[in-house]
Amino acid sequence: MILKGKRGIIFGALDEKSIAWKVAEQAHAEGAVFVLTNAPIALRMGAINKLAEATNSQIIGADVTKNEDIENLITQSVEILGGKLDFVLHSVGMSVNIRKGRHYTDLDYENMHRTLDISAISFHRVMQTCMKQDAMNEWGSIVTLSYIAAQRVFPDYNEMAEAKSMLESITRSFGYHFGKLKKVRVNSISQSPTKTTAGGGVKGFDGFFDYAEKMSPLGNASSEDCASYVITLFSDYTRMVTMQNLFHDGGFSYTGVSQEVVSS
Ligand SMILES: NC(=O)c1ccc[n+]([C@@H]2O[C@H](COP(=O)([O-])OP(=O)(O)OC[C@H]3O[C@@H](n4cnc5c(N)ncnc54)[C@H](O)[C@@H]3O)[C@@H](O)[C@H]2O)c1
Repeated sequence: MILKGKRGIIFGALDEKSIAWKVAEQAHAEGAVFVLTNAPIALRMGAINKLAEATNSQIIGADVTKNEDIENLITQSVEILGGKLDFVLHSVGMSVNIRKGRHYTDLDYENMHRTLDISAISFHRVMQTCMKQDAMNEWGSIVTLSYIAAQRVFPDYNEMAEAKSMLESITRSFGYHFGKLKKVRVNSISQSPTKTTAGGGVKGFDGFFDYAEKMSPLGNASSEDCASYVITLFSDYTRMVTMQNLFHDGGFSYTGVSQEVVSS
């Protein structure tokens, strides 16, 4: 029960495969109370109701690109949960150009603006709104999810590479200000390829997944493992970790080449 008494908001549980879904299950098991949120269109799929029931949580719809939605979400969450927040999980990402099948060298820039808004700027929006509403408790923890294409080229990851680079930069920059003001810590977790709706949308995902599995001494990290790592970051055991991009990838990021890749 390492999250006993803690309150939070979890963004991005779409279905049982979602990383946010696993985080919600584990946070509940560790004693936390939280509000679940997703885009209104995702809520219409209905799967999240099952999670809300299982974790005794309320759901509030919010499009992360809309200020008024985020303001309303945070005000209502503090009211529903009966106090300020101790943690926020931002587990949100979407590339419009990938969805529309546009190659990286043929991007539509309106689509790209939207991709950056949903996948990176929204993290700033959520933190800025929390700060303006003074909605975070001291020593609170905010976590987002990234991918190693922020540092290295994975050609099919397309414009999401830019989105993740920006996301990691916002993590550092906002982490500085939130740390100074309220001792709130802000980190990104750079996760292995994971079989979810967002992951599967990337062209050649199975190839990525198998390659990373062969390269990583521990193999790919699952969504359950990722959730466990998130829980440690929400707990009081990691109070001095902030402004970091933390690789959670079975060793992939520091492996030059593996025997399995050489022999395949
Ligand atoms: N799956 C992977 O291989 C992988 C690897 C590294 C990082 N990540 C990151 O993990 C995070 C979670 O993705 P996932 O793999 O669990 O997939 P997922 O598809 O289950 O989650 C993505 C979520 O973003 C939400 N979303 C999209 N647009 C939104 C909007 N306008 N407003 C609010 N919510 C919106 C979706 O509804 C969905 O719930 C993403 O940031 C993703 O980039 C995923």
